[in-house]
Amino acid sequence: MENYNEGARNDEFPGYGKPFKSFATDAIHVGQEPEQWNSRAVVPPISLSTTFKQSQPGKHFGYEYSRSGNPTRDCLEKAVAALDGAKHCLAVSSGLAATLTITHMLKAGDGIICMDDVYGGTNRYFQKVATEFELQITLVDCTKPELLKAALKPNTKMVWIETPTNPTMKVVDIRACSDLVHDHNKDIVVVVDNTFMSAYFQRPLALGADICMYSATKYMNGHSDVVMGLMSVNREDLYDRLKFLQNALGCVPSPFDCYLVNRGLKTLHLRMERHFKNALAAAEFLEGDSRVERVIYPGLPSHPQYDVVKRQCTGCPGMITFYIKGELHHANTFLTSLKMFVVAESLGGYESLAEHPAIMTHASVPEKERSILGISDTLIRLSVGLEDKADIIEDLNQALAAAAPSNPEKN
Ligand SMILES: Cc1ncc(COP(=O)(O)O)c(C=O)c1O
Repeated sequence: MENYNEGARNDEFPGYGKPFKSFATDAIHVGQEPEQWNSRAVVPPISLSTTFKQSQPGKHFGYEYSRSGNPTRDCLEKAVAALDGAKHCLAVSSGLAATLTITHMLKAGDGIICMDDVYGGTNRYFQKVATEFELQITLVDCTKPELLKAALKPNTKMVWIETPTNPTMKVVDIRACSDLVHDHNKDIVVVVDNTFMSAYFQRPLALGADICMYSATKYMNGHSDVVMGLMSVNREDLYDRLKFLQNALGCVPSPFDCYLVNRGLKTLHLRMERHFKNALAAAEFLEGDSRVERVIYPGLPSHPQYDVVKRQCTGCPGMITFYIKGELHHANTFLTSLKMFVVAESLGGYESLAEHPAIMTHASVPEKERSILGISDTLIRLSVGLEDKADIIEDLNQALAAAAPSNPEKN
């Protein structure tokens, strides 16, 4: 698969890769062919039937039972595979169900190296559930490939990379990590959680990863009304095993949810471009504001891995993390003073959200690990939505004013 990321340039956002070739056309047409339905429906129907007629025992027409295969799910999986530059995609009932299904390829005694900063639920699953099944978890800061190299052991079977990470927005060089892992042992499965970038801004498989997974709950659906996971692969052996596990574990999404995510994909490119514009403006505003300690946004030149971002991504999503000046109560006042941003978990929808990772999404990460990672009391995470740029900045500005340490009413 040609890697469109590398070397290309985006006219609108100089310094970033060019959008993937025919992305919008594929999002709209692949897997959606009207000829697959007798009715010639242009929009794929929601196929709710749990079972399918066989002409004689064992002779079916592609579908037997809706857990093992469903026509609406097929449309979604084909579209996502095209957007990831993958041969196959499999949809499951949540992002964590994707993590679980992928991890079920391993057996007791196998080792997993996991990026040190990952979504709290991923951290909880690996450290509190997978270890119960005798999987060995090693957390490593994969932004330093030499640390990843040093952590590889004879029992390492999987490397789990999230980039950018949730919530501290560290960016991992997928090409460098995949190459060094595969040079060590080509059978080690490199998984990239591509939730934050979405298929529009980053293609992990083209950069050497074996599995690209998503919490489709976020940008891929984009409307904050579905919980779903996706896994894209090129390797046939991985596809066969994951397809088997999709059915054997049974974590499948409903046909209605497949319909919704398939619909969300039709505007993914438009949404991501607007998320990028709005978030870049918000990040620049925050970075220039004296009430803010530090802003972490991969689209800012101040980001520690900005060079990797420019090389590996075609743009940046709406996720910004920043440290407000002051203490916990300043962060709390900021959050409770927001008028348009909604204080809520999750991300990647059309609406702007704000949250406090240490209290909300990452409360399940042990406190000691949180403090090493910098998930402190003053860390705030924004998911910048698709509203008007001026209104986004105005809301941030007035909430910062309310929370400012210099504001006598708040001290
Ligand atoms: C980066 C990332 N990966 C995985 C997940 C888990 O996905 P889900 O909530 O769909 O199970 C999340 C959820 O927030 C996430 O942010």
